[in-house]
Amino acid sequence: MANKTINSGEFHEHRGTGIRNDSYFSRHKTVEPIKPKLEFSDELISIYNEFKNKVYNPKSVLCPSCGFDASPSKVFSNVTFVDGEIGGNQRCIETMIREGLNAIKQDIRNYIPEEEHDLLILMNPCIHTDVAAKYLKKGGWIISNNYHSNAFQMHAKPEQYDFFGAFHAEKNQITITRDLEGYFEQVKNFEELKRVNPEEYEFLRDLTESIAKQCKISPKLSLDEKWIETKKSMASIEKMPFKRYANTDTYLFVKK
Ligand SMILES: C[S@@+](CC[C@H](N)C(=O)[O-])C[C@H]1O[C@@H](n2cnc3c(N)ncnc32)[C@H](O)[C@@H]1O
Repeated sequence: MANKTINSGEFHEHRGTGIRNDSYFSRHKTVEPIKPKLEFSDELISIYNEFKNKVYNPKSVLCPSCGFDASPSKVFSNVTFVDGEIGGNQRCIETMIREGLNAIKQDIRNYIPEEEHDLLILMNPCIHTDVAAKYLKKGGWIISNNYHSNAFQMHAKPEQYDFFGAFHAEKNQITITRDLEGYFEQVKNFEELKRVNPEEYEFLRDLTESIAKQCKISPKLSLDEKWIETKKSMASIEKMPFKRYANTDTYLFVKK
């Protein structure tokens, strides 16, 4: 396939904020191209490889709201891509099919699976996790980021989902952390974050200040208030930052 590789730092988004920081992420961002082309993220490919090699080799993968991101196809042999091409990403499904991938243009809510899926991939999907997780068999895996609060949604439903791990990147090496204390646990305010995770505090403080400036949010507001204001325009549902984050913003869950 003659497609573009998305390199580290090429795009700037950050978990839950819309801006990804280079040192944290090397993820693609879907921008509608003039001539539609598939996109591949080196970081996501590494994450999927780590999962496949260390955790589970899935037989059937569902990737809803895929846009142009075909990264799963580099790792897994049986992937079904689904996208309703709602808003942007026009022609993503036609482009996937042209490249020989199994892709369906459909609202995921109307999808009828031909077989049971045992891995669900959710990356910035604009849908609630439950909408897609219903197509996954019990004991199936979910690799998800939290840009649209999909991981947070699962963490909030321990009767439905087990939180298994968080993907961390260090020196271009991905590892799955099983020490899960503090993830998705909201701090009361930035002062608490400063105490429990000073590094994260500095990072989120600078990011929030920068977004607040860009969005012309009143400089008179406190850091906590600015954070809430910046979140209002996003799909994220968390009220305050978490004590801990995966630096890839990618998490692993199991459907119960
Ligand atoms: C923000 S893009 C993310 C694309 C890709 N996963 C990425 O991370 O770059 C969201 C995608 O979800 C698709 N989408 C939104 N709601 C959908 C739905 N109900 N069913 C299928 N696709 C949907 C949109 O068409 C769009 O391509």
